[in-house]
Amino acid sequence: MEALFSPGRIGSLELKNRMIRSASHEGLADRSGAPTERQFQFYKRFIEGGIGLIITGYAGIMQNGKSALYHMTMIDSDDLIPAHRTMVNNIHNIEGKIALQIAHCGRQTLSSETGEATLVSSSSVPNRFYKEVPRELSEPEIAEIIENFAAAARRAQTAGYDGVQLHAAHGYLLSTFLSRHSNKRTDRWGGHLENRFRIVGETLRAVRDAVGRDYPVFIKLNSFERARDGIRPDECVRFTRMVGDTGCCDAIELSAGSNEDSFYMARGKFPAEGILKYLRPYCKMGRVGKFFIRHAVSPVLSKIQPPFREGYNLETAARVKKAVSLPVITVGGMRSKAFMEAAIREGKTDFVSMARPLLLEPDLANKFKTGESSVARCDNCNICFVATDTVPIRCHKDEFRGR
Ligand SMILES: Cc1cc2nc3c(=O)[nH]c(=O)nc-3n(C[C@H](O)[C@H](O)[C@H](O)COP(=O)(O)O)c2cc1C
Repeated sequence: MEALFSPGRIGSLELKNRMIRSASHEGLADRSGAPTERQFQFYKRFIEGGIGLIITGYAGIMQNGKSALYHMTMIDSDDLIPAHRTMVNNIHNIEGKIALQIAHCGRQTLSSETGEATLVSSSSVPNRFYKEVPRELSEPEIAEIIENFAAAARRAQTAGYDGVQLHAAHGYLLSTFLSRHSNKRTDRWGGHLENRFRIVGETLRAVRDAVGRDYPVFIKLNSFERARDGIRPDECVRFTRMVGDTGCCDAIELSAGSNEDSFYMARGKFPAEGILKYLRPYCKMGRVGKFFIRHAVSPVLSKIQPPFREGYNLETAARVKKAVSLPVITVGGMRSKAFMEAAIREGKTDFVSMARPLLLEPDLANKFKTGESSVARCDNCNICFVATDTVPIRCHKDEFRGR
């Protein structure tokens, strides 16, 4: 049997194969943050397309960590449990498995969205993309955030999700504590590695206490950040050992980059036209501004994009596999069946996960299984990424043809 299609296990969760849909913000929730029928219909295509597990786009654990992207799913109130339960039941009725990713956006959002005067973060270091200067969280506020992660995980469990994933990657709140680039604290939440990890360790413990011993808990971590003082693979491997030592986590997903890292997270093309059409404030610019971006800024930015390379987080994943006994999920540039099959067969990762390719081909798992296809058609145009700022998620591949 092909390794990619062999059953896998994450804690108590049995998966029919090793292909996972990685968390991708959908923008399909209603105004209160409740999942909608449209969101279920969106996920249904992945289940029917053969994917082993869906990890939802990030769901907000509290209002001051709410995303500025279009219509974030929320899990910050018991009132939202019925809508989540309806969606999860629908997924289970078609034999699908689904885990909820939970997050606090920290400094990667806008105060106009959170409704508070300032954003909050590990330290008062602005993000170059969102630009607002966040304030440093106090001890009681950190405790409140940990409690809110635990409450959100308990709600996910009550709603019937097959697991919960803590988002500790991509520059969101938990990862700002891990990274020296954003964490300048001198108290017990900053400084050396153990201190920077403290909030993640305590959150994992609080979540485990809230959901009990057998409920699958995952974490998503960065293997790399662009900033000179950002996370490096060596540090990542040490963080994953600490995750393992908590005894409170069932799987680690490895990604890279943050919001201000340009496209380190995704790699591929610089989506100039997508930015001009969908990204605030560029979509509201006049013709002169757009002309300047199109002809002066974007050629330069296109040149400094990190080059796309298949499975760009796999080397770190292979190191993590040797360091911890937890299952490892690798995301980022997984495109060909042969590459994924070899990665699993050679023991570099236990699972592969994908975001962009499944928007164009939600049935990619089935296509790989039947031999209809051996390579994803996604060309990493990255328009899906920037467009979630103002519209629900979809593939925009055909939209800018000829440009
Ligand atoms: C439209 C879009 C939305 C995303 N939203 C999230 C998210 O909510 N949480 C998360 O952890 N990663 C998110 N990501 C990152 C992906 O999970 C993944 O790490 C990244 O796209 C690289 O994988 P890929 O090459 O398979 O696309 C998003 C990616 C895309 C394209």
